[in-house]
This record gives sequence, structure tokens and C-alpha cells, in this order.
Amino acid sequence: MTSGQETRYLVRGGNPLQGTVFVQGAKNAALKMIAASLMAAKGRTVLKNVPVIEDVRRAVELAQTVGAVCKFHEAERTLVIDASDLTSSVLPEEIAQRFRASVLFVPPLLHRLGEATIEGIGGCNLGSRMLDFHYRGFARLGAVVEEQETQIHIKADRLRGAHLYLDTPSHTGTENLIMAASLAPGTTIIDNTALEPEVLDVIAFLTKMGARISGGGTGFVTVEGVDELTAVEHTVMADRIDAAVFAMAAAITGGELSLVGASLEHFGVARWKLEQMGVEFATHGAILQVRRDKQLRPINVITDTYPGFATDLQSPMMALSCLADGTSYIRETIFDGRYNLAGELNKMGAKVEVAGNAALVHGPSVLHGTEVIAHDLRSGIALILAGLAAEGETIVAPGYHIDRGHAEIASRFATLGADIRSEVVS
Ligand code: EPU
Repeated sequence: MTSGQETRYLVRGGNPLQGTVFVQGAKNAALKMIAASLMAAKGRTVLKNVPVIEDVRRAVELAQTVGAVCKFHEAERTLVIDASDLTSSVLPEEIAQRFRASVLFVPPLLHRLGEATIEGIGGCNLGSRMLDFHYRGFARLGAVVEEQETQIHIKADRLRGAHLYLDTPSHTGTENLIMAASLAPGTTIIDNTALEPEVLDVIAFLTKMGARISGGGTGFVTVEGVDELTAVEHTVMADRIDAAVFAMAAAITGGELSLVGASLEHFGVARWKLEQMGVEFATHGAILQVRRDKQLRPINVITDTYPGFATDLQSPMMALSCLADGTSYIRETIFDGRYNLAGELNKMGAKVEVAGNAALVHGPSVLHGTEVIAHDLRSGIALILAGLAAEGETIVAPGYHIDRGHAEIASRFATLGADIRSEVVS
């Protein structure tokens, strides 16, 4: 896999961030759209505002591996995909093992080639992250799913509409089953669907392609299968997690930032939690102003599906709480294994105690720079935030995890006055 050389980030803290930053396009919408574009049997799909991140590069590689012709104009953040000739139904291990969203390529392969083989499935190291809703859903739609030791093989001459139920409102599960149902003759009803804004953007994209989907945002989606989907142009929504990370960067450094393209509405509960801590927001058209000049107050956070407090912001929030004046309480309910950040923050002088799925963060701490490990994307960006507030130099590695989800993080922070650079590890 072309994941490039190993890199690490070097951060010297202490500068309050000031200035204007552009929020990237949403990773968790763009990845689904890249897969969905393979359902158009002719024409070229044009996706705009695509974030230039490693996960997108993996998705593009996967699309190319199965035969799509892709041109990622990175400077323009525009991706052009021509999926007229799909040639392979195999999602190879070298990509699929590190890129869990590979499962999103199953619906287009089933519809176009009648089968899909996933040779491994990976992604963030986030404890038990099952994909059973996806496979059970494909089976309910008429596919035969065979789990072998090292691969999963899914076969379907033709999918057919069915009534599906998700045990929990899985974000990717919802999108994947909507995709699968879009070209399945008949009516598909999916109960207990996810409400995340990215799901609505994916539905908007599929609808432009010709899909007939209703009920997005209600928890109950109906899809009427159509005969074909066509290639269209679409602009990916702004990334609410990237936006909130920059808001927290303003907060942790005691700075003031203008976030271009951020939607405060998409922050969900994170907005109220940050305000409770003493962060101030003001919206001016497409610009969200964020500042923090008072002592941060401790906070109580329980992660939940949208509009609850996003699990992807739990790690950055843990870093921010280290500076709060008192003990913060955090409970993770979506993913287990999302607390390996605690040990890394403690190396920097934080006092984080973990008990089961709860964490107590005793603040305020004076953080000091040291070498720390990014165990996954969100803990990686949280350590960058901690580094921005720490005395001395913080070295965060591997940089790949951060680059999976945040575009040009060093240069975007440096423009705001941060002392940060990335370096290739020899
Ligand atoms: N789950 C199952 N079976 C399934 C699917 C999910 O048990 O078939 C469980 C998971 O194990 C987890 C919970 O349900 O405990 C929620 O999982 P969900 O399916 O909602 O998560 P996801 O779709 O795999 C997406 C994002 C994640 C984000 C979560 C929650 C993408 C590509 N990934 O994952 O993003 O944390 O929703 O919002 O959209 C990230 O960006 O860093 C990231 C991990």
C-alpha cells in the first residue's frame, strides 16, 4: 500500500492561535461518496471539496484496484471518477486491512459484478468494531455471505428490497445499506438509521444520482430501488469534526479563530459542552468565530450518536479537560478501546484516571512536551492539541494516523501562529 514514509509531528506549545482557517470537506461523507460513485455504470462523477487525507487516498486506490479511472486533483480538492469498466471484485488485503471503510465498496461490486471479496478489514484500532449489521443487511437483501478465515465473500445475482433493522443506528451501516438498496428492485425499509449530517449528505448525493430515498434524518429510511444511477457532480459538506478540533485548538491555547465553512449546528451537544467550559462562539454567515479567554471549567461528557457528543471528539475533549479548573468526567459509550490516549496525556503531566468506560481528568495540569504515541486518528489529533498547550516540545508519532483524517494539519496550524512541523522519520 502506498501509505508513504513514516512521519511524526513536532509541536512547541505556548502560542495562542489567532487567524482564519478553512475547514476541510467531511471525511466521513467523502469516503461513502467515492464508493457510491462506482454504482454509476457510465459517465464521470465529480466530487468537490474532497479532503486531501490518507483515507481518501486509500479509497481512491481501492476504486482504481477494482477498475475505476480516478483523477484526484488535490490542489483543487476535486476528484473525478469514471467507473464505466469495473474489472475486479476483490478488495485486496493490503488496503482493506488498514482501511475499514473498504466494506463500503461491497454494494457497487455486488450490483456491477455480482460478487465482492474482502481480503481483510481494518481501520482505527478502536476495540471491537463489528460489521455484522452490514453483512446481515446484505443477506436480508438477498446476498449470500460466506465468512472464511482470511476473507469474506459476498455474492448476489440480484439484490431485492427487504425490511431491515439496525440494532444500533450505525453510521456507515446506514449508508452502506441505503447504497445497496438503491439499485435493488422493490422497497427497502431500514429501521433505526443513523442521524449524522454525513448520512444526509450521502443521501443527497445518491438522490442526485437518481436514487429514491425518503426519511433521512428521521431514524426510519425508505428506499425504492431504481434501475440505474448516473454520474453527477457534488460538493462534499464541511467536516464537523475538523471544525470542532480547530475550535478546541482555540480553546486549549486561549486564542481566537475564524473557521470558514464550519456549521455550529453540526457540532450537536459538543457546542453546549464547549460553551459550558467557557468557550465563546459567534456565527457570521459562513464563518464561525471561536475564542476562549477565561479559565476553562471542568465538564461532564457522555458520547452518543448524533446529535449527542461525538465519539470522534472524545479524545480532543480529554486533552482540553486537562486544562480545566477541576475534575472532568468522560464516558465513552460508542467504542471501547478509545482511552489509550489517557496514558499518553499522563506522560505529558496530565492526571487522567480510567475505570471501565469512564475517565476522570483531574485539572488543571501544566502539560510538558515529550514523545507520545498516536494510537489512532482522534487520539493523535488530541495529542497535537495537548502539544499546542504544553511547555517544550511534544513529538507525536506515527503521523500517518493524523494524516488519515486531517488535511495539511501542520501548515494549517502554523498559519495560525503554532510552532508545528512534520518530519519524515529516517
Ligand atoms: N457496530 C456493530 N456492528 C456493526 C456496525 C457497528 O456492532 O455492523 C457497533 C460498533 O462496534 C460501534 C457502534 O456500533 O460500537 C457504532 O458504530 P458505527 O457503525 O456507527 O461506526 P462506523 O460507521 O463504523 C463511523 C465513522 C467513525 C465514527 C463513528 C461514530 C466512518 C468511515 N467512520 O464509523 O469515524 O467514530 O461512525 O460516529 O464514517 C473517525 O473518523 O475517526 C471514525 C472512527
